Parts: sequence; C-alpha cells; structure tokens
Amino acid sequence: MLERWSRGLKGLGNWTAGVMDAFYGALGTPGKYLQDFLNGSWLGHPLHPVLTDVVVGGFTMLIILDLVSLIFGANFRDPSLIILGLTTLAGIATILSGLTDFKDTATGDERNVTTLHGYTNVASILIYAIAFFVRLGGSETTGQILAIIGYLVISVGAFIGGHVVFKYGYMVNHNAFSRGRRAKEFTPIMPAVELAENTPTKAALGPTALVLVRRGDVVYALKETCSHAGGPLSEGQLQGGAIVCPWHASHFRLSDGAVVHGPAHTRQVAYRARIQAGQVEVEGPVG
Ligand code: FES
Repeated sequence: MLERWSRGLKGLGNWTAGVMDAFYGALGTPGKYLQDFLNGSWLGHPLHPVLTDVVVGGFTMLIILDLVSLIFGANFRDPSLIILGLTTLAGIATILSGLTDFKDTATGDERNVTTLHGYTNVASILIYAIAFFVRLGGSETTGQILAIIGYLVISVGAFIGGHVVFKYGYMVNHNAFSRGRRAKEFTPIMPAVELAENTPTKAALGPTALVLVRRGDVVYALKETCSHAGGPLSEGQLQGGAIVCPWHASHFRLSDGAVVHGPAHTRQVAYRARIQAGQVEVEGPVG
C-alpha cells in the first residue's frame, strides 16, 4: 500500500537525491567528512536512528507535560518551551542525517517510500517549529494543538521509516545474515599467477564471492558484497590502502575491511590471505 501511495513521489525523491549529491560534491573533501559523520560511519551503525530516538523522546515528553498541565493545572510553560525548541533543533539534525543516507538509496519503491517517510517528517518538524514560535508569542493553547498535530504526523513518519528498514533492509549491513563461508585453515582458491598486481579480482571460496588484491607477495581478501547496499567490490577502484565501492563510494581498508569513508557503517568481512606453493590461499573470516 505504501508503495502505491509513494510512487507519485518518484520525481521528488530523485530530485532530492540529486540535490544532496550536488551539495556534497560541491563541498569536496570536507563534504566527505561531513557525510561520514551524518551517515554514522564513525559510529558503527547509522546515526539517523539514534537521532530519531532523541526527537520522538523529546516530543513525547512535551505531550506528557502538556497533559499534566491540562489535567492538574500545573505551569510547565518554560520547560515545555525549552523541550520544544531543543527537540525541534534535534529534528533538523535528524532530517540532515536522513537526507545524507537518502542520497544513496536504491531507486524504485525503496526510494519512493523513503521519500514519503522523509517528507512526512519534514512536515512534522515544520509544524513543531511553528508551534515553538506560537508558544513563544504567548499563544499556549494554539501551540499545544499544533504540537499534538505534529506528534500525529511524526508518528506516521516513524511508522513509514520502520517499513523502509524492515522491508527493504535500508541502511542495514548487507552481510548481516551471511558473513560468508568459513575456512578454518588456509584454503587454496586460485593460482597466484592469475592474480594481477594491484587489480581488484573476483574469486570464490565455495559459495562466497571474494575480492582479492595483490601487492607483491601480500594479498588482501575481502567479501565481495559491499556491506552498505550489496555493491560488487571487485568492480571498484583502489585508493591508497583502501578499495572504493563502485556504487556509492564507500572506502574499505584492504587489510581488515574497516570503513574509511561511508555511507557504509559496518566493517567489510575480511579474510587472511597468502601465497603458498603458487596458490592464493585464504583463511577466516577474521574477527
Ligand atoms: S553498495 Fe553503497 S557503497 Fe557499496
């Protein structure tokens, strides 16, 4: 049902993703670090759901204070205003983190439904911002009514956000349910002569696809499927000690799969690799 409702937002979603891409592109290297921060690459999981908890918690507290004021006649005007103001600011930060994740969404229903989620929450934060200024101006009752409307809208937005995550696995580690075939001891997977120097090369450990990179006698092995959204790392580029995913440019350290730059937030599955008796052998995964 949400898919049907959101298909009309396809143009808006693609436009929004394009604007965010252009915004970060214009910022250059500082933009990459800002993007990493807002994606949560430094945190080990997305920043967005952390911030949504703050926002929903703050606005829930506001509703409770308003109800207590209404029922018991207590005066919580000042604390309510502070909570409303600070939570609205947290809402703006949450929108920024959401937009940063959004620009790398897969097109189609996933992007359309995410667009519906995002713009519903933008509407709720706008309502709360108006409620703040109305209450600041002394119109307590109007501000309270607006806050209740904002709470209903943000609840719908949160529901749609849950749908995006649980149906599409949005911003979920794509290796969560399959870390790959385990090799308890070093296992040959290809002749070393077939592994070109400094060239990401796809290989297989049983059913698990790996990407191998050879530098002299040193070989690095990571799982082929990018943890962000499943991109093929063997089609990526090398940059220093990292491999860059061809889909959304996450950088993973070759030596251990650590995230150097997002939008990925979860370490890429890594194997130990070596050249032995003319064969490339792998063991692991590590960690
Ligand atoms: S699939 Fe998005 S960065 Fe790899």
